[in-house]
Amino acid sequence: MSTTVKTLEVPGYQVAQFLGSGARSTIWKIRDSRTGDMYALKRVVRRETSDQRFLQQAENEHAVANRLDYPSIRKIYDIRHIRRWLVVREIHLIMEYCRGRTVQDSRPQSVINAVEVFSHVAAALEHMNSRSLVHADTKPNNILVADDGTVKIIDLGQSCRVGIIKKRIQGTPDFIAPEQVHRQPLDSRTDVFNFGASLYWSLTGQAIPTVLPKKGEVTLKIDLIVTPPEQLNPNVPSGLSKLINDCIEVSPARRPQSMKEVRSRIEMVRSTLTRSRRADTGQDIEVENTSDQDTSGQDILNQSIPDQDI
Ligand SMILES: Nc1ncnc2c1ncn2[C@@H]1O[C@H](COP(=O)(O)OP(=O)(O)O)[C@@H](O)[C@H]1O
Ligand SMILES: [Mg+2]
Repeated sequence: MSTTVKTLEVPGYQVAQFLGSGARSTIWKIRDSRTGDMYALKRVVRRETSDQRFLQQAENEHAVANRLDYPSIRKIYDIRHIRRWLVVREIHLIMEYCRGRTVQDSRPQSVINAVEVFSHVAAALEHMNSRSLVHADTKPNNILVADDGTVKIIDLGQSCRVGIIKKRIQGTPDFIAPEQVHRQPLDSRTDVFNFGASLYWSLTGQAIPTVLPKKGEVTLKIDLIVTPPEQLNPNVPSGLSKLINDCIEVSPARRPQSMKEVRSRIEMVRSTLTRSRRADTGQDIEVENTSDQDTSGQDILNQSIPDQDI
C-alpha cells in the first residue's frame, strides 16, 4: 500500500504520518493547523459501486461513537463527506489520536500484563453494552496499548444494537462467535465470546478454532475442541483459564451472561496475581512464547453489508 501523502488533503489539518490500514481504510496522523493538536484520520474511499458498504460502515462507526463516552474507547470527533459530482466518494473520520501498538503487533509480555489490558477491554465493552450496543469485532488488532498502559478499543465499524440479526456475516474468523456465523441475534454475550477468543490468543499465541474457518466456509460442527489455555501457557492461573473457557462456550447461554460478570472475574484474577507478585520476588510472571504465528485473520468484509441499524 502506498504511504504517499501527496493526494490526501484534509482542510484545516496537515497530514503528518501514515499510521496503519484496515480492510478498506487508511489511518493517518494529522495535525490541527490552528491548535497544533494531533488527531487520527480514518480515510475510506469508494473506488467502485460495491465499496458503498465501506462508506456505510464508516457512517455506522461515527454514529456508534457518538453514543459512547469512555476513556478506553477511541473517540470520533467529526465526519466529513468528500463528494465528486454530488456522489460521496470518500469519508473522513476525525478521531482521537491513540499512542501505542496493537495487541496483535505486540503481544503482552506476561500474564499480569495481559490481564491488565483485558480488564480495560472488559470495562470498555461493559460500557458499550450498558448503552445497548455490541462491539462485535473485539480482536487483538482492534486493541491499542500505549507504553504507559493506556488501552484503547478501536474500530466500531461492525458495532450494532443489542438484538440485531445482521444481513450478512461480519467478524474475523479467529475470533468470531458462532451466533455471528449462523446469523442469530447478537448481544453482550457475543462480545464475551470475542473477548475470550482474543484473551486466549494473547496468552497462548494461538487462535481457537471457530465455526468459520479462514477460507470462509461455514462448518456445522459445533463441538470445537479447544486446548485449555493453561496447557499452552502453564503460567495461566486456573481461574483465568476457566474464565476464558467459559467465555468461548459455543452456546451463549453457557457463557458469562454479561461483560460486568467477566470484568469482575478478571479483576479478581488481577488482584490475586498482583498480591502474589508482591508477596513473591517482585518479579512479573513471564508468558511462555508458544507461537509466532500470524493469526490476524482478515475482516470478512467482502461478505458484509453493514447494517444501518443505529
Ligand atoms: N486513533 C488511532 N491512533 C493511532 N493509530 C490508529 C488509530 N486508529 C487506528 N490506528 C491504526 O490503524 C489500524 C486500522 O485501524 P481500524 O480503525 O481498525 O481500521 P479498520 O476499520 O479499517 O479495520 C489499527 O490497527 C491501528 O494500527
Ligand atoms: Mg480494525
